[in-house]
Amino acid sequence: MKKRIAVYPGSFDPVTFGHLDIIERASKIFDHVIVSVFVHSGKKHMFTVEERVAMLRRALKGRKNVSVDCFEGLLTDYVKKKKTDVVIRGLRAISDLEYEFQMAAINRTLYRHIETVFFMPRVRYSYLSSSVVRDIAHFKGDVSKLVPVHVAKAVAARNKK
Ligand code: PNS
Repeated sequence: MKKRIAVYPGSFDPVTFGHLDIIERASKIFDHVIVSVFVHSGKKHMFTVEERVAMLRRALKGRKNVSVDCFEGLLTDYVKKKKTDVVIRGLRAISDLEYEFQMAAINRTLYRHIETVFFMPRVRYSYLSSSVVRDIAHFKGDVSKLVPVHVAKAVAARNKK
């Protein structure tokens, strides 16, 4: 039987417990999940692509059907290259819907076979985003309930002055 492969794209700057919750749910449904960091050269990030990939790999160590990668250019081209047509995204609240709806629709316009599958994280993470983590860290707050330990350390180290 054909393997069901899905791509979970994002900035992951940095990975949070919310992302990990989505990955866990997706990995139970798909045979293989490729978590892929988008290389957006024009945008300022807290962590480099290499750092974000390394943090994801560490957080996902031991998960046999999950791999971590990065991509440049259009998501639809990347998805085709990976020989799949399934994209995973997390939906935390209705406020996410407009952006996600637009992205899914555009991607379908670019590649008609693409399907975007949405997963809802546990409610406890519905307020959580990488930007919230970056904001708290900026003011030297505690992010240990929001991200894995190694990520919390990396975030604290980046904000040490
Ligand atoms: O975690 P994010 O920042 O919400 O992820 C957004 C991402 C990386 C999934 C999105 O920006 C993307 O797919 N970028 C690749 C470029 C592309 O295909 N753009 C057209 C569709 S919006």
